[in-house]
Amino acid sequence: MMNVALIGLGSVGRGVAGMIAKKDLGITITGIADSKSGGMDPNGLDIASLLASKTRKGYCGDKKISASDVIAQADYDALIEVTPTNALTGEPAIGYIKAALIRKKHVVTSNKGPIALAYKELHALAVKKGVALRYEATVAGAIPIMHTLEHGLAGNEILALYGVLNGTCNYILTRMAAEGLTYEQALMEAREMGYAEADPTYDVQGIDAAIKLVILANTIWGNGIRLNDVDRTGIDLLTPDALRLADDEGCTIRLIAEAIPRKHILRVSPRIIEKNHPLVVDGTLNALTLETDMAKEITLIGRGAGSIETASAIIGDLLFIKDRYVQRA
Ligand SMILES: NC(=O)c1ccc[n+]([C@@H]2O[C@H](COP(=O)([O-])OP(=O)(O)OC[C@H]3O[C@@H](n4cnc5c(N)ncnc54)[C@H](OP(=O)(O)O)[C@@H]3O)[C@@H](O)[C@H]2O)c1
Repeated sequence: MMNVALIGLGSVGRGVAGMIAKKDLGITITGIADSKSGGMDPNGLDIASLLASKTRKGYCGDKKISASDVIAQADYDALIEVTPTNALTGEPAIGYIKAALIRKKHVVTSNKGPIALAYKELHALAVKKGVALRYEATVAGAIPIMHTLEHGLAGNEILALYGVLNGTCNYILTRMAAEGLTYEQALMEAREMGYAEADPTYDVQGIDAAIKLVILANTIWGNGIRLNDVDRTGIDLLTPDALRLADDEGCTIRLIAEAIPRKHILRVSPRIIEKNHPLVVDGTLNALTLETDMAKEITLIGRGAGSIETASAIIGDLLFIKDRYVQRA
């Protein structure tokens, strides 16, 4: 068995809690918190009643217990950190993750902020404490890119990577190409479908894709790059004419994140790309092509977001930790 503390009970947190309750994974939730309340029980919390309470009252536990209390006091092996991303400060997640690592607890997060901003420091702390810090869900949702890099492609040199890493942009571009919609019309549709935030800046200006590129590059090459190192152009100035011209040539346009160290390229930009290229995926899908010395080219395609899809990545990380490190009766 492995005990976990779950911090954040929004779309991702509820997906994780629901799957842990439903499946026989050998994982028990002994601590839980949202922004207003928390709960702890070393024998395991009743997930169904916590989720019901969250839906009914808007908070999950005791208002006198905070997320920090749960991280500091609960009896758990791994912390699941799924609070909102703050791409400027990484807080409060960086503080939460550090507090757990200092207690020698493993950490699994879906939060891009701490990994993009403080990976080096957090990774060093995890190594010092002899625990794991895993973040599969931060990039490309359900696609097991980190596991693939770490295990499936172990021993390969990664020469370059190319990715469609933002589902909102991909949806907008797909709809502009398919229906001749303007950027504004496609964005409005994406909002109606729940794929775009009220403020879509992070997505459409390529910031979200650039953050994911930073996480991937630092994981693969450990080159300490930062968001400012990425050359970035969004999709917000694209016209239907540009897509029509691409179409005349048997091509389309996709927002591609690319890292090619031998050419010093680190870039997110709309690219004209042949329609039958493996990276041309439709709707909100994500795709990633890795160019390696032994395996050559490998493309992974899958869902880049969603409650249960993201839970899949988190549970994969948890079970890896459970198999490798945790021995409870
Ligand atoms: N949604 C996806 O498909 C997806 C995919 C990949 C990665 N991610 C990342 O995963 C994380 C969670 O995403 P989400 O969609 O689940 O977000 P969300 O629906 O906004 O939920 C965030 C949860 O965190 C809680 N929270 C907010 N501030 C907190 C604080 N200071 N201390 C403790 N808890 C706090 C919220 O509490 P209340 O409930 O009280 O407001 C809420 O339960 C984000 O970093 C996101 O970027 C999401």
